[in-house]
Amino acid sequence: MADWDAIILGAGAAGMMCAAIAGQRGKRVLLVDHADQPGKKILISGGGRCNFTNIHTAADRYLSANPHFAKSALGRYSAQDFIALVDRYGIAWHEKTLGQLFCDGSAKQIVAMLEEECAIGGVTMALAQPVSDVTHGDGLYRVKLGAVDHRAPALVLATGGPSIPKMGATGFAYDIARQFGLAIVQPRPALVPFTLGEEDALFQALSGVSAPVEVRWNKTRFREAALFTHRGLSGPAMLQISSYWQHRTPIQVDFLPDLDADWLIQAKRDRPRAALRKVVGQALTERLADALLERVGLEGEMGNLSDKALRQLGARLHDWPFAPTGTEGYAKAEVTVGGIATAGLSSRTMEATKMPGLYAIGEAVDVTGWLGGYNFQWAWASGWAAGQAV
Ligand code: FDA
Repeated sequence: MADWDAIILGAGAAGMMCAAIAGQRGKRVLLVDHADQPGKKILISGGGRCNFTNIHTAADRYLSANPHFAKSALGRYSAQDFIALVDRYGIAWHEKTLGQLFCDGSAKQIVAMLEEECAIGGVTMALAQPVSDVTHGDGLYRVKLGAVDHRAPALVLATGGPSIPKMGATGFAYDIARQFGLAIVQPRPALVPFTLGEEDALFQALSGVSAPVEVRWNKTRFREAALFTHRGLSGPAMLQISSYWQHRTPIQVDFLPDLDADWLIQAKRDRPRAALRKVVGQALTERLADALLERVGLEGEMGNLSDKALRQLGARLHDWPFAPTGTEGYAKAEVTVGGIATAGLSSRTMEATKMPGLYAIGEAVDVTGWLGGYNFQWAWASGWAAGQAV
């Protein structure tokens, strides 16, 4: 039997932050993971450079059944707080685009920093430890690791979501949450490429082509790059909208968000002898223009095409419908939407309101950020909040 003040399950982004903060408050902390090293998702994030936060972090850039839930934690531990920590460790960084901050060097620096913060807090790490049994009685949580029973008045669920199972991701947090009576918002893969069906097979030829677009689903829109893949659609714009998308609904793509509706009519007046595919190809790219025009079935010289046909084509290029057949699923999803319902948690401490001493943080919770450093910021902020409370 071993006694602790807090046992944290999951040595990922949120779990390490929580452990470091609690340890530095003088708590005796056990940080458990079934992987043989901490922070594996941090290591592969941002192409190995870890997009560790976003300077535009705000609660309206997160999906949750309760859109206000994330405000408290994000307000108390901000992007600036994490930047200050990174700066204290002398880790060089840069803003890539849209407020996204990346390490100049390597994501390994972020993991090393968090390990050091845990060491300063005297955190005990139990790695490569499958958790077989979690129980509660007499005000204490008991976690069995091999032959040893560990117990503590506080148990933190920080095992993330099921995205990328081949990296050891599981729905374990949901199982333990359910065991203690917490509700789960139906999880689904998010920030994930779309798959297209037979009727869009024509676009397979565009695999590797990228274009700046505005993509819409219902009232949500993102203006970023889209990428055609051999299976469907990817790139930041598509990953972003995938988090909102519901099955069997179309998404709309504006391939020319900077041009007005009548630009083709103007081009007809200016260049009547030019081929339509040349004109559209200059605005898009020739490969993309060819595929879209083949689909519409329009060709010829600009001067020979009616204004009506050109207006219709212009409208279609601004509002191209794709009907994804699905997504590439958890195998390719950067995150999971849904998870442990926020209704049962305190937004200040992340503690379960009906199960004192049980906490849930990070991706395991029904709070999912946009692409661009928002998910790590949620992991840091929710980990910090629970680390202050355990
Ligand atoms: P996280 O997944 O980090 O940690 C969970 C831990 O629990 C893991 O160490 C796992 O081994 C452990 N675990 C799971 N099941 C267990 C069990 N049954 N028993 C014991 N341990 C268990 N976000 C961002 O903001 N910027 C970025 O650049 C990227 N890039 C990125 C790239 C890729 C390829 C992916 C897959 C994801 C991203 N993300 C991202 C998302 C980001 O990685 C994610 O939101 C955070 O890692 C979530 O932090 P958590 O600590 O909640 O879970």
